[in-house]
This record gives sequence, structure tokens and C-alpha cells, in this order.
Amino acid sequence: MSATKPGGIAAQVVAWQAVHGRNSLPWQNTQDPYLVWLSEVMLQQTQVATVRSYFARFTAQLPTVQALADASLDQVLGLWSGLGYYSRARNLHRCAQDVVGLHSGVFPRSAEVLVTLPGIGRSTAAAISSLCFGERVAILDANVKRVITRLLGFDGDLAQAAQERRLWDAATELLPPAPVAASSMARYTQGMMDLGATVCLPKKPLCLVCPLQSACVACACGDPQRYPVRSRKLKRSSQSLWMLWVRRPDGAVWLNIRPTPGVWAGLHCFPLFQDEEALRASVPQSSRAALQAGATFMHVLTHKDLHLHPWHLTVGAAAEFSTLGGRWVPADRWPSIGLPAPIRKLLVPDYP
Ligand code: ADE
Ligand code: SF4
Repeated sequence: MSATKPGGIAAQVVAWQAVHGRNSLPWQNTQDPYLVWLSEVMLQQTQVATVRSYFARFTAQLPTVQALADASLDQVLGLWSGLGYYSRARNLHRCAQDVVGLHSGVFPRSAEVLVTLPGIGRSTAAAISSLCFGERVAILDANVKRVITRLLGFDGDLAQAAQERRLWDAATELLPPAPVAASSMARYTQGMMDLGATVCLPKKPLCLVCPLQSACVACACGDPQRYPVRSRKLKRSSQSLWMLWVRRPDGAVWLNIRPTPGVWAGLHCFPLFQDEEALRASVPQSSRAALQAGATFMHVLTHKDLHLHPWHLTVGAAAEFSTLGGRWVPADRWPSIGLPAPIRKLLVPDYP
């Protein structure tokens, strides 16, 4: 753990970022915490390439934290539709309302206060305060964990909270020495992210072009992929769901809003059932013969493989399925409401 000299790596990271880092992403070159916060939340589980278009659409419709706080949850989920991990969108909305309601519409400037807001964890809080306000605090997202564990040869098991805390301490020790100019601090934070995303890759790290190579324990050992160490494996499960895809002659489909908590909470979805029996039972006797099985497909969630079984039904203009909850939703509304990704692919295949 003592591989680096005091003040050692920070200056190298800052110098490297200025030349080789990413400096023209749409959420850079701004100190607006609203834009930085939004991008950080989108980037938590989504690739930069995907985030670009969502970020542009989101900020065009909701350009300020006030606009987001005033928007309906439905509009927010609609703008999020396809990004997945919808708790992020719900927290985003609540967070905007807290910034407006509890902080007079102004984002707090310190990570210590930011972390009290919904959906803002320790690393995201530090990213916002260091990128926007130059606060000297460490981030530790998955990319940065990889860089730091390899750099230090940190082999503690990150499934253990105590080891995770040790790594936070190590990340804090690596920060540029105080006092540090706000612009350098922001560049250091961005540089650590950029190293993780573009150089210290999970499978084949590009040690030959890495500014930390001479200090890096893992590279010297010749097996950087050993790090980070994490023992706990995700326990994956699988589930089958039957979906009732009812169409009216004008093309409208029957959608209801998924309950909270649960898969796709708050999103609009075809009525879902645990088995084919339950699906059949939900359809009036007179229509059951018209039910047609669609092609089963799989959708992968974080902890679960979903096997989805759509059943098609075309009904008359006056039909209602009120006992299932929900309503008819015409096709022109589909692109702007919150739909789970697999439902969106069925209904709006060319969006976004
Ligand atoms: N991932 C998380 N934050 C990021 C940022 N600011 N730039 C690029 N990728 C990121
Ligand atoms: Fe990662 Fe290699 Fe750089 Fe070490 S030298 S931080 S393993 S890219």
C-alpha cells in the first residue's frame, strides 16, 4: 500500500487528463451542478454512447432543476424509458423536489450535504462537488475502484464493508495534496474516471500507455486482472411472466402501471400474470378463443432473467379491461410514457 510517493500520482493524473482524457462530452465544460448531477446518475449504469442522446433529450425538455421538480413522474419516466434501473429516475425526480423544497433550488456545494439527497451516493456526491466546485474529495465508482486496487495491489475483498472502507481511505490519500486549485481537482476526478474507462480496462488494461505504470503494483506483478477482488457472486434467478397484449381496432393497447415495489415499478406495461391460466382467466370468456400466443423472449435484469410470454388479443372498440387496472393508450403516446425496455422494443422498435 505504500507504492506511491506523497503527491505522486495526482499530478500525473491531472497532466494526463488534460492531454488524453475526455474533455468534450456534453456534460463537461460546465459547472452547472444540475447537468453534472444528471449525467452522473445516467452514467452510473449506462455507457457514454447511450447517455449522449438521453442527456440531450432530457435537458432539452427539462433544462433546470426547477423544471424537473415541476415535471410529472410520468414525464420523467418517459424521458428515462429504455435506460433501465428506473429507481434512478424516481430518485432523480425526488431529488429535484428536495433541492427546490429544502435548498431553495440551489444544489448544495459539498459532498457531505449532497449525499443526503435521494439517489446521490458517496461517489456521486463527490463527483458533483469536485467537478463543479473543486471540492477535495475522492470518488470511487466501479472504474476508479479498478484503477486504485490495481495501482496499490489492494487485494482486500470488496464484498466486505471494512475492505470497502479501507479502499475509500486509500482513495482519499491519493488525492492531490491540499490546497488544490478547483480546476485541478475537477481534472483529477475526471482523470481517474477516464483512466478507468479508457486505459485500465477490465479485461486488457493498456498499461503501456498508462501514466501510473511506473507506480502500479498490479502491472509490476504482471496480472492486473486479479484486481479488484470481490468474492460475492450475484445470485441470479429467473422468472416467467405472461403478458396480455390487447389491441383495439384503432391501434390503442391496454396498459396499466406496475405497482411499487416490484419489477418496473411505476412504468406502463401490458397486464402481467404469473402463468397462462391467470392470463386466460382475466379475459372475458367470449374472447378467450381469440387469444394467440406470441413468441416467447428473454429480458435480462440485474439479478434476474425474465422469460416473457406475450399473448395477443384483438378486441372491439368498446372493450374495457377495468378489472386489470389501467387504460387504453393510443400509439402516439407510446414514445413519451415510461415503458419497460422490452415493452418499448415491442411497441416502439425504432425509438430512440
Ligand atoms: N462516468 C461517470 N462519470 C463520467 C464522466 N463525468 N465522464 C465520463 N464518464 C463518466
Ligand atoms: Fe491499470 Fe495498468 Fe495503469 Fe496499473 S498500469 S493502473 S493496471 S492500466
